[in-house]
Amino acid sequence: MFSFTELSSLFEQHFNKRQFPVSPANLYDPAQYILQIGGKRVRPVCVLMGNELFGEIDPDAYHVATAIELFHNFSLIHDDIMDKAPLRRGMETVHSKYGESTALLAGDVMMVQAYDNLNQIKPLHLQKILFHFNKSAKEVCEGQQLDMDFEQRDNVTMEEYVNMITLKTSVLLAGSMQVGAILGGAGEGNQQHIYNFGKNLGIAFQVQDDYLDAFGDPEKFGKQVGGDILSNKKTFLLIHALDVASATQKEELKNLLSGNAPDKVASVLQIFRDCKVDEWAAELKEKYFQEALKNLEDIAVSSSRKNELRKLAEYLLQRES
Ligand code: IPE
Ligand code: IPE
Ligand code: MG
Ligand code: MG
Ligand code: MG
Repeated sequence: MFSFTELSSLFEQHFNKRQFPVSPANLYDPAQYILQIGGKRVRPVCVLMGNELFGEIDPDAYHVATAIELFHNFSLIHDDIMDKAPLRRGMETVHSKYGESTALLAGDVMMVQAYDNLNQIKPLHLQKILFHFNKSAKEVCEGQQLDMDFEQRDNVTMEEYVNMITLKTSVLLAGSMQVGAILGGAGEGNQQHIYNFGKNLGIAFQVQDDYLDAFGDPEKFGKQVGGDILSNKKTFLLIHALDVASATQKEELKNLLSGNAPDKVASVLQIFRDCKVDEWAAELKEKYFQEALKNLEDIAVSSSRKNELRKLAEYLLQRES
């Protein structure tokens, strides 16, 4: 069985070439730009690991993994426009470098390119994989809309938050594992278990993302630290702080959220610290990590085959970028 590092370098051998035509350069260069500035390639590795858990890697897995990484990067380009984010992977975001109109179009063409890759897989699996790909892709859009709707609301519950991050983030990880499992010949039951594993892992992954957005090391994170605070994102940090804060802290938080004070990020962070949201983050991550491990137990293959998935889960929850 291959490790995360081995699988990502196997994937990179396929992916590390120009994915787009040369011309018009003003469309395709920005698309290629975001692919080349880095990324952990988690989702393609999930496809390959999902496949390998049940059988030898099917050559089609690379097309599927490529499609999912392209879809992910498309969603990042559009997400950065929506979130007004200046930085991605330690570099300028596509829209800040090339302008919003170009970024929209580069994202669009990247999604079409994703489907071109899916279109290369054998007919045996095409219909099923397309079904799961489309399901996850639509759910990502639903989650992204909820994420934006929540910016305007001030009473988002933890349950609504978990539902929103499940949609915007975790279903793509879950779907990646499941389509990999389909390629490996897994039965319906095992497909469901690995999907659930990816789903709980994905929730913990977004919890870590939200944690890093507030408390990450700007040198390592690669994105603007404090961006979620500036956009009034209803992350678990804010929801929990509002839950446990004193009346004065609550008042202060609400005032900070409704304005754009120059010290907004620092002041909100101070309240987060005072409310010990970092401890809560660790608890929340642990809860979903444990759920994910249970799902992993449920998969009917020998425990030793699951080691790499366990390690992947640990790596994702401790990541700093
Ligand atoms: C960023 O995903 C968007 C989220 C869903 C949190 P990643 O953290 O996987 O981003 P890259 O691809 O490694 O840059
Ligand atoms: C984004 O969530 C999820 C998708 C791109 C679909 P975030 O907005 O938290 O992702 P980052 O932090 O910008 O990577
Ligand atoms: Mg964002
Ligand atoms: Mg976002
Ligand atoms: Mg984020």
